[in-house]
Amino acid sequence: MRRAAAPFGVVLLAIAVAAVFFSPRAQGPAKATLASSVLTDATTSNQGAALAAGRTLFDNSCSSCHGTGAQGSSLAPNLRGVGAATVDLWVSTGWMPLANPTVQPQRKPVLFSRKQITEIADYVASLAPGGLPIPTVNLKGANSAEGFSVFALNCAPCHTITGAGDALADGISAPPLHGVTPTMVAEAVRTGPANMPRFSNFTISKQQLADVVDYVTTSIEHPDNPGGVGLGGVGPVAEGFVGLFLGVGMCVLLALWIGDRNERDDGGHDGHDGHDDSEGPEGPNSEKTEPEVVHA
Ligand code: HEC
Ligand code: HEC
Repeated sequence: MRRAAAPFGVVLLAIAVAAVFFSPRAQGPAKATLASSVLTDATTSNQGAALAAGRTLFDNSCSSCHGTGAQGSSLAPNLRGVGAATVDLWVSTGWMPLANPTVQPQRKPVLFSRKQITEIADYVASLAPGGLPIPTVNLKGANSAEGFSVFALNCAPCHTITGAGDALADGISAPPLHGVTPTMVAEAVRTGPANMPRFSNFTISKQQLADVVDYVTTSIEHPDNPGGVGLGGVGPVAEGFVGLFLGVGMCVLLALWIGDRNERDDGGHDGHDGHDDSEGPEGPNSEKTEPEVVHA
């Protein structure tokens, strides 16, 4: 009886250890204020001074690559006509200024204040017409459930359904969507940075944009765990591996246990997948009648 119980103890222990290791990460501070706020746009009261400030910031931090006047250089693309929304996204994600021009821009700590970013964006936008202004997103009437459908259809193929991000082709990856602001999501959707497609009003309406922004900035940040052991939302592939690991571990233990009990006709039973299909409670003599183990 003790021999029979031991393997199950090991399995339970393995599950307990896994539960501790893969418990969800601590969540950051709630973003309730963001979800309900109306995002400010680029309107500044003192246009001239703000543009001058933006120009100084641009000359100091961006012109070495993008050129004085943002016309581009051998190091970086032309920014004339990209619009304030594009500049705002690339700076507020920390992608710019770029540290290493040979790799995909990465989320980095942002070097500028909110006000400075707006000044840079407005300055660049003032150089040539084109592009989009920094969007205003009103999440008052947003529906997160609708947002989930929009996300599943349009975003999950690259960012995964949990928003954890995933590798695409050629060393490019769709970044994780944790910690993004509503403005960043709206800007990414409408401007389509780098390898991400741009979604116009026709593909994702204004209402759908609000819905998906709400979904990304609230539900992805605070997923309602559908039950089971939380694995930190690492995505179906990794979670599958954990399942496989535990499942195979259990099969191996079961196989060892059965093998142990059938020592007498031990004719190469190791390696089978160990489904124990014997029914009913085991009587004291069950060892004699039980050696059928179905090979897969
Ligand atoms: C070290 C060189 C370098 C510096 C400094 C730099 N950039 Fe860039 N920037 C690049 C490169 C290279 C790209 C193209 C990256 C890509 O497409 O993956 C780029 C792309 C961009 C884009 C996207 C353009 C588009 O058409 O989508 C914007 C916007 C931008 N930079 C703004 C800025 C701003 C604003 C600053 C200053 C705060 C800045 N950059 C500083 C090298 C630089
Ligand atoms: C074809 C793949 C693809 C699809 C589809 C896609 N994205 Fe992206 N997304 C990317 C890539 C790649 C980047 C990083 C851009 C770069 O290369 O610098 C990105 C960046 C972003 C960012 C900025 C994240 C950061 O690092 O701060 C947000 C927000 C975002 N996407 C939201 C969305 C939403 C919302 C949708 C659906 C409406 C969507 N994306 C659809 C590939 C995709």
